[in-house]
Amino acid sequence: MSRNQDLRSFISQVRKLGPKFYQSVSRSVKPQYESCVIQQKLAVQDRYPIVSFSKVSGSKRSMISNIFGSYDLLGLALGVSPGGDRSMVLKAFRERAENPFQPVYVSKNYAPVREVIETGDDVDLSSLPIVHHAEQDSGKYITAGVLIVKDPDSGVFNTGMYRHELKGKKELSCMFNPAHHAAHIYRRCRDLKKPMEAILFIGHHPAALIGSLSEGTINTSELDIMGGLMGEPLAVINGETVDLPVPAFAEIAIEGYLDPDSETSDGPFAEFTNYYGPAKDTVGLLNVTAITRRGDAIYHDLDPAHQEHNLANALSLESRVFDSVKTLVPSVSAVSVPVAGSCRFMTYVAIRKTVPGQGKSAGIAAISANPNLKTVIVVDADVDIYDDTRVLWALNTCCEADQDLTIIPYALGSHLNPSSYGEWRDKRGPMNTKMIFDATRPVSKSFEEPIFPPKEAWSRINLNDWLD
Ligand SMILES: Cc1cc2nc3c(=O)[nH]c(=O)nc-3n(C[C@H](O)[C@H](O)[C@H](O)COP(=O)(O)O)c2cc1C
Repeated sequence: MSRNQDLRSFISQVRKLGPKFYQSVSRSVKPQYESCVIQQKLAVQDRYPIVSFSKVSGSKRSMISNIFGSYDLLGLALGVSPGGDRSMVLKAFRERAENPFQPVYVSKNYAPVREVIETGDDVDLSSLPIVHHAEQDSGKYITAGVLIVKDPDSGVFNTGMYRHELKGKKELSCMFNPAHHAAHIYRRCRDLKKPMEAILFIGHHPAALIGSLSEGTINTSELDIMGGLMGEPLAVINGETVDLPVPAFAEIAIEGYLDPDSETSDGPFAEFTNYYGPAKDTVGLLNVTAITRRGDAIYHDLDPAHQEHNLANALSLESRVFDSVKTLVPSVSAVSVPVAGSCRFMTYVAIRKTVPGQGKSAGIAAISANPNLKTVIVVDADVDIYDDTRVLWALNTCCEADQDLTIIPYALGSHLNPSSYGEWRDKRGPMNTKMIFDATRPVSKSFEEPIFPPKEAWSRINLNDWLD
């Protein structure tokens, strides 16, 4: 395995696979909407390549987007060849996440992210090709940066992706979902009257980025999972102006601190829900103390209202649901968080059911895996949960709502789900009503047999040999 995988090693790997996976745009694009519309037009044609923009007007930096555009791209990031069995991608994620590596500190002289160091008056975020993604967005947002912070109680590093509006030459907003670990750490810094130091790095191997989104306990450092997913320790150096590790092979690292007593606002912002998330009056403010980067740094953007946003989180959520269901129903065979359900609000779970009630138990375990989840559909193991058609078929043929639908109102949900509500039902808030559909067949009473193609003829007949 090659050492020090990074964004560039991934791009060159994907580029060799041709236009299905990699497209370049050499015409200059405006940072307002144009790169997103190109991605969105490709999506209408069911095309999800990485898109490389060599010129973005107003910036000297080139830009890449749609790194997480498809399950095939996620698989490639984890060493799985495209076009195969979809479940292999989750398998690869789980195997690698179970073998984490602690980061290793390398010499600053060998850290490409230190080729250029900008501090003091040289700091100017507007030199980056930060994109204005959608018409009603409040401004330009960094959408694919990974924020590294440190838990002041345990000293454990925490990472995640958050939206960051450009607020000035040296200022970015940070919008934390109150349920996320970063928000907890931010609140602790406020209690302790300490600034929260932060590194926001942009551009790295997608395995590292997916690892930064992994959903462990607050005492798990995602830096270790990033190494696990890459199959090699994450190489880091010390920050130039903050006491935090900086990934040495990142494209860009923005250093700074948040003072919880000095906040800003952000939004509206086009979200993964495919709605504009409402404006927030109080979000964190990152005061930038340094920007370090490669000489020819590539800026990584992500269109937040495109399926790449949802897919970035998909594997960590699937894995979380798998673990949760496995505890109650060990015969769980597959888990999927479909793009059709925004990859966060819905999950399909397949089990080998042997005991009455296991369908509902699997659903209860799945819904409790993550607060964003709103809908769970549990099916039998012979239903292909990577095919929405088959899952909806099972739902409509195996599930009767009066006995198989469980409704849990007033549970913690997603504050960005437009139908979410607060303790006063007529006001917006972070709660949703959860739905668990048990679409498994009974185990102890007779039920119609589902039809499957005859095995022998299916494997023998090759269409090329039969069609004129
Ligand atoms: C592109 C992208 C943007 C995201 N934006 C936000 C955001 O603005 N705020 C937030 O709290 N979570 C956001 N998330 C989700 C978090 O990054 C993710 O749930 C992460 O695991 C949270 O980590 P934490 O619990 O350690 O803070 C985003 C995820 C992705 C992939």
